[in-house]
Amino acid sequence: MYVLGIETSCDETAAAVVSSGTKVLSSVVSSSLKFHKKYGGVIPEIAFRMQLETIAAVVDSALKEASLARKEIGLLSVTNGPGLAGSLFVGVSFAKAVSLALGVPLVAVNHLHAHIYAGLLGPHRRFAFPFMALVVSGGHTSLFLVRDFDDVRSVGSTQDDACGEAFDKVAKLLGLGYPGGPLIEKEARLGDPSAIRFKCSDTAGPLDFSFSGIKTAVMYYLKARHRAAVGSSLARDIAASFQEAVTGVLARKALAACARYRVGTLVVGGGVAANGRLRERLGTEGARAGVRIQFPSPELCMDNAAMVAGLGYRLFKKGHRSGINLTTEV
Ligand code: KG4
Ligand code: ZN
Repeated sequence: MYVLGIETSCDETAAAVVSSGTKVLSSVVSSSLKFHKKYGGVIPEIAFRMQLETIAAVVDSALKEASLARKEIGLLSVTNGPGLAGSLFVGVSFAKAVSLALGVPLVAVNHLHAHIYAGLLGPHRRFAFPFMALVVSGGHTSLFLVRDFDDVRSVGSTQDDACGEAFDKVAKLLGLGYPGGPLIEKEARLGDPSAIRFKCSDTAGPLDFSFSGIKTAVMYYLKARHRAAVGSSLARDIAASFQEAVTGVLARKALAACARYRVGTLVVGGGVAANGRLRERLGTEGARAGVRIQFPSPELCMDNAAMVAGLGYRLFKKGHRSGINLTTEV
């Protein structure tokens, strides 16, 4: 079955065709990022206006890239939350219209659950329930116990900033630009991760996260040194030390969650899952703990519609359907 997925929860307008939940035939992502850059973050008004302008063309190119005619689509799948209200509204309304026009069923998908599915996408991916999932993106940092595609239970989450948000804010402090994650990672490669002992704040729940304190610690560290010039060795050491602390806490808590719920597999998803140091640490620390770690391919870490089409197919097989009265869940 060919599934057309649509994703518009943040600044991206994405459409993809996935065959029977496994094979990605096309994945088109159009980002309005360059229009947000000068503000250092996503401006919702700009995001949804661009999505309204581009969604029809993006869907057409996904179908074209997959060499698929409209009548061959068997199912439509769309993200209906969480995300930016106006942005979600564009995708959901478009998907409802297409579903009605083509007479094809529609399934709504949760954006965070779709990020988990990205790690299961691809012909050679093995998985068995239950498993633990770590979703680390610009808006969320959560640990989920996954017992089935529609049985996803949160067992830990951030109490303040999301992990990607912390990368973005620290990058801004260092004058690196936006989005910060890849820029911090690049800067960190040339720095000393043990130069400064930054630490993520403790949380009441052992599987919760807090990233606001470490961002403030970086700010004070910089203030005391009259800010580090971009490209200086101090900036590189700060980037490396910050990344080391954050990836350390992510790896430690994710593996602690696996131990606590006695699961042998950890699936990681979301933009921060593209981080090389996180992949490296979870690789070695997971092997030591006897936990199998599964990451999506780098392009499927970021927001995309292939993960939406894939999960939509699985939910459809389990009997899920959405109607014309589908709403957004911000
Ligand atoms: O999943 P995503 O594309 O969008 C959301 O749903 O939020 O994640 C975007 C986030 C941004 O905060 C970005 O800085 C972060 O993922 N990110 C990274 C890396 N690549 C993207 N963070 C750390 N290291 C990276 N290589
Ligand atoms: Zn996302």
